[in-house]
Amino acid sequence: MTRLQTLLARERETFKTDHPRSAAAYDEAKRHLLGGVPMTWMNLAAGGFPLSLDTARGARVTDLDGRTYVDFALGDTGAMAGHSPPATVEAIARRSTQGITAMMPTEDATWVGAELARRFGPPQWSFTLTATDANRWAIRLARQVTQRPKILVFAWCYHGSVDEAFALRDGDRVVARPGNVGRPVDLEQTTRVAEFNDPDDLAEQLAHRDVAAVLMEPALTNIGIVLPEPGFLDTVRRLTREHGTLLINDETHTFSAGPGGATKAWDLEPDIVTIGKAIAGGVPSGAYGISRELAGRIMAEQDADLVDTGGVGGTLAGNALSLAATRATLEHVLTDAAFERMTARATRFEQGVQDAIDAHGLDWSVSRIGARVEYRFAAPPPRTGSASAAAHDRELEDYLHAYLANRGVLITPFHLMALMCPDTTDEDVDRHTEVFGAALSELQS
Ligand SMILES: Cc1ncc(COP(=O)(O)O)c(C=O)c1O
Repeated sequence: MTRLQTLLARERETFKTDHPRSAAAYDEAKRHLLGGVPMTWMNLAAGGFPLSLDTARGARVTDLDGRTYVDFALGDTGAMAGHSPPATVEAIARRSTQGITAMMPTEDATWVGAELARRFGPPQWSFTLTATDANRWAIRLARQVTQRPKILVFAWCYHGSVDEAFALRDGDRVVARPGNVGRPVDLEQTTRVAEFNDPDDLAEQLAHRDVAAVLMEPALTNIGIVLPEPGFLDTVRRLTREHGTLLINDETHTFSAGPGGATKAWDLEPDIVTIGKAIAGGVPSGAYGISRELAGRIMAEQDADLVDTGGVGGTLAGNALSLAATRATLEHVLTDAAFERMTARATRFEQGVQDAIDAHGLDWSVSRIGARVEYRFAAPPPRTGSASAAAHDRELEDYLHAYLANRGVLITPFHLMALMCPDTTDEDVDRHTEVFGAALSELQS
């Protein structure tokens, strides 16, 4: 057994001893829940089984065993506004006694559309319940107006359960990502793939002129953080325009860059912005915003059924409750001032991690997008999705996750991401720095 394996086994043992009620709840759930969890990804638990939630408030969660944690996972961004922010809770309570969903628009929707336009730029908005659906419907609209079959994504991206996006390249061939479940069609038919931060690769792929849209995060966030190199996003915009391809910025995670996401913070001009997760404080809500020019083209499509069974829409999308929660969250919680505080905390977090990495002489790196921080077992930080994927080490990740959890700190179970919410304090950040440093010391002793 390596030192790492010994330490991981010790941490798992501690985790098991400390969480008898979560362990029992997991066993009980196995009887009727697929995989023993409400959603199968909840099985990604470094300690051996998932912690069961009792309560969560602000930057804290408490599990069924009564243990409280500083939460930097924040529902993988779904709770970036903090858990149960009072203004959102109040709006939910009010709206839920006045009609949750009806076949009618509410004034909140108009307010939210205007606010998203002010923040992100695109002037015309439509609503979904998830970021996945925002991406799916944006893709359909892009195919409709361009009459092109393919979507281009960057290698090792993630955009939700969007069929087209689970693709990699193997030489000239487009292949499915390992583990892709029951794909409907061969990805060669639907997708082109380029490497992030590689303008030549992108130019070559777009030159086929069969790509309806590039679907991208302005910085990759789902294979660690991969930041765009200077000029890359300008090149993406120039090339997409040159080749008649639309550009979709998925801001679901890069929303952490500021009140208007990376689109506003980095002065970007996509044709479509998609977003979900955090905007309604944890209540299901997603949205996509469209440039005026593209909105005109969409509405002029004679053979596109946008009011009934055309393939874009959902019964509960744009419901009164989701929009009330979205309005309250944007108006009172994820405000400009909140982003300033969150970014300051994240900068402190980043510094703490960097200091620990330096003190231990490790070839690791840390990257940040506003309120979001991620550490990686590679230095300098990987500049492509493939390089970042190659830096992955499951055992080491599990050790860090379990070590932190056993000492009251949670980071996102997917890779090593930490997010700040408006309630995160300097003390919370320093607690992580302290425990992270201790985890490294034990690894090296
Ligand atoms: C960039 C990005 N887009 C879209 C999604 C999908 O979000 P949801 O699962 O809430 O639909 C995710 C989820 O992690 C994401 O990271």
